[in-house]
Amino acid sequence: MNLILLGPPGTGKGTQAKLIADQLNALHIATGDLFREAVKRGTELGVRAKAYMDRGDLVPDEVTISMLLERIEQPDAQGGAIFDGFPRTLQQARALDEALAAKGSEVDTALHITAPDDEIVRRLSGRWLCPSCGAIYHEQTHPPKQERACDKCGSELHQRDDDRPDVVRARLEKQRPPAEMLDYYRERGKLVDIDGARAPEEVTKDLLAAIERATAGVSN
Ligand code: AP5
Repeated sequence: MNLILLGPPGTGKGTQAKLIADQLNALHIATGDLFREAVKRGTELGVRAKAYMDRGDLVPDEVTISMLLERIEQPDAQGGAIFDGFPRTLQQARALDEALAAKGSEVDTALHITAPDDEIVRRLSGRWLCPSCGAIYHEQTHPPKQERACDKCGSELHQRDDDRPDVVRARLEKQRPPAEMLDYYRERGKLVDIDGARAPEEVTKDLLAAIERATAGVSN
């Protein structure tokens, strides 16, 4: 099964991808996490990606696509994955389809999560993350039990460099899913719009229902 989570920054893709991956026992691949890992390790890819991420720009397609294609060749990805934050351009969408077709597979559904801009800014400015296990918190809506400590593993929480207000504004301007990419999935009957401005469990319920419809072969 291959599921795609699309949407502007901060609409809840990461939060939902983790919940769904747990429920469906599926692999979660987040290109943002792969880039942050490369930045942390100081690899050539990380150094290149960081300049774009710090400005709120997308990393160029050729870099992003080759990183993603390498990831899906790994043994744990042979049963498919939940793609979080990939694709973000039409070229990325086409590259993913080609790679999956070569394996006799395809995208089952593209779930497009939306939320109003003021809600997105509120969410990103209050987001805290666990650097060890990846758990996602929000200081108002989903605070950890102990300030700045992860409920799951106890590690100290941190905020992302690109959640500064100026970079959030740039990400919102530059990183909305392009209409041509949404049309690409819509024309193939794979696009499902999900209202992300509700309680996380309500969003999860809609996502799981859409996934069930897609895997039962019901077109959108
Ligand atoms: P990436 O890490 O993918 O960032 P993003 O798309 O901007 O998404 P976010 O992680 O910021 O938000 P999210 O939608 O996952 O929301 P979350 O669940 O955390 O990418 C980082 C950078 O890498 C990009 O800027 C780009 O440079 C580069 N990059 C990555 N992929 C690329 C690609 N394919 N091509 C080119 N470049 C790429 O939730 C946010 C907050 O809201 C949290 O605090 C959470 O607790 C809270 N929240 C979540 N859901 C709810 C809810 N329903 N109600 C209330 N609060 C909620």
